Amino acid sequence: MAAELSPIDKAKFVAARRAVDFVSDGMKLGLGTGSTAAWMVRCLGERIREEGLRVTGVPTSRRTAELARQVGVPIQTLDEAKWLDLTIDGADEIDTQLNLIKGGGAALLQEKIVATASDQMIVIADAAKEVAHLGAFPLPIEVIPFGWRTTMALVEETLVSLDVLNRECTLRMTGDRPLVTDESNYIIDLHLKRIGNPRQLALVLNQIPGVVENGLFIDICDIVVIGQGDGRVTVR
Ligand code: 5RP
Repeated sequence: MAAELSPIDKAKFVAARRAVDFVSDGMKLGLGTGSTAAWMVRCLGERIREEGLRVTGVPTSRRTAELARQVGVPIQTLDEAKWLDLTIDGADEIDTQLNLIKGGGAALLQEKIVATASDQMIVIADAAKEVAHLGAFPLPIEVIPFGWRTTMALVEETLVSLDVLNRECTLRMTGDRPLVTDESNYIIDLHLKRIGNPRQLALVLNQIPGVVENGLFIDICDIVVIGQGDGRVTVR
């Protein structure tokens, strides 16, 4: 599966493959979204085909659901599964406390619901995702389309009240239209450069009417599996 991969894809692949070792027979799994999570779904499909592993997955996006079907991973909805043993997902940034920024793939809402409904969350990533402080990657927030400009203004006001210096907010576009998430919402990206207090920011953002969820995952991730371009993997 890993033949002729670029170093970045190899890093993602080896992290995904190692994380799939944590999966055991009978588990109910949360299936993340993004290019690294896609490797995990493929590796899971391989174990199902080759070892007869029996698992069910709850996908966190339509894209992941489609891939799971293609590679033979049985899926169900979160309401059918009710509670999950393990979620494996990617991330855009991981700090030293295992707090995350997610949502680069616009799936943060379902990803957070699914990870929170799991006994354990494993994050898989290439080494470039490890950071000392969150915030260089723009923080996505999912907002309802109704009144999104007003919601964005309220977010900016909130950032002023928290003395956040860099606080440019942009509506995520696809071509000349706002990107629409699987839950029919919009994404606003907060360009903050560095987040001083991620826990506080995560709580405050979710108090703003119109904000559905933010991409800060605080105290949700339990284990991080980092892959390197040369095939080395570290688990912490
Ligand atoms: C999607 C996500 C992804 O997990 C995150 O963007 C990482 O993606 P990739 O593995 O492609 O780098 O949060 O909403």
